[in-house]
Amino acid sequence: MARITASVYTSHVPAIGAALDLGKTHEPYWQPVFKGYEFSKQWMGDNTPDVIFLVFNDHATAFSLDIIPTFAIGTAAQYQPADEGWGPRPVPVVQGHPQLAAHIAQSVIQQDFDLTIVNKMDVDHGLTVPLSLMCGQPQQWPCPVIPFAVNVVQYPVPSGQRCLNLGKAIAKAINSFDEDLNVHIWGTGGMSHQLQGPRAGLINQDFDAAFMNRLIADPQGQAAVPHIDYVREAGSEGIELVMWLIARGAMADLSGGAAPTERHRFYHVPASNTAVGHLILENPL
Ligand code: DHB
Ligand code: FE
Repeated sequence: MARITASVYTSHVPAIGAALDLGKTHEPYWQPVFKGYEFSKQWMGDNTPDVIFLVFNDHATAFSLDIIPTFAIGTAAQYQPADEGWGPRPVPVVQGHPQLAAHIAQSVIQQDFDLTIVNKMDVDHGLTVPLSLMCGQPQQWPCPVIPFAVNVVQYPVPSGQRCLNLGKAIAKAINSFDEDLNVHIWGTGGMSHQLQGPRAGLINQDFDAAFMNRLIADPQGQAAVPHIDYVREAGSEGIELVMWLIARGAMADLSGGAAPTERHRFYHVPASNTAVGHLILENPL
């Protein structure tokens, strides 16, 4: 059967992608950011999964304000890197896993979560920057990816509690797929940041540290935190952090198993306008 072995959490700042693509990773501004992912790239090489289930948000790239799905699962065979205004990033095309994606859609919808099924979608920095941070600049990504887009851009956005519960449903779906697959689930976006208005540039290091601690040790408690607390404390784009709760909800301890092991933690301020946070949690064997 398929099995979730680990969850990965990381910010997705577009300037990080540009720094990689333009060969600026050794510049003094960027060097400390990429240093925090050295361990992670090694870990990805040593623990390459068969599939990544990648929870991210689209930034009005694939979905405009015409159509705003709350939760959208990619069931396609391929996803093209999007053109976000400067041309598509020079990164590999993302290969999907239509069979596992269709199985997860079937299972999760039958568990009463209304997913939008997406057979064609371009993927923006929300998905490609986490892949670049974790995998570097390969000719091909190391495995297929199932993109799972969450609306955190246009209100109303889903609650932390709903995200945690959805993660549990996704784990149940993956664990019932009849093929031996090692699956990672990634929660991306965050940490604290605000890109517009009088509070543009807001970063809250205390909030971010507390969020990471509580995500690991008390995910149920963190799931109960309402949106308005994220927006007030972590900025308008800090709400992207609810996506981390989907990945956390898919870990074994939320379904009666043992607690995960923290393999890696990194935090750095700032990258562009954003606090960069990163965690790797492993399920017990
Ligand atoms: C930045 C951060 C984001 O999450 C995003 O989607 C766009 C820009 C930034 O820090 O510049
Ligand atoms: Fe973003």
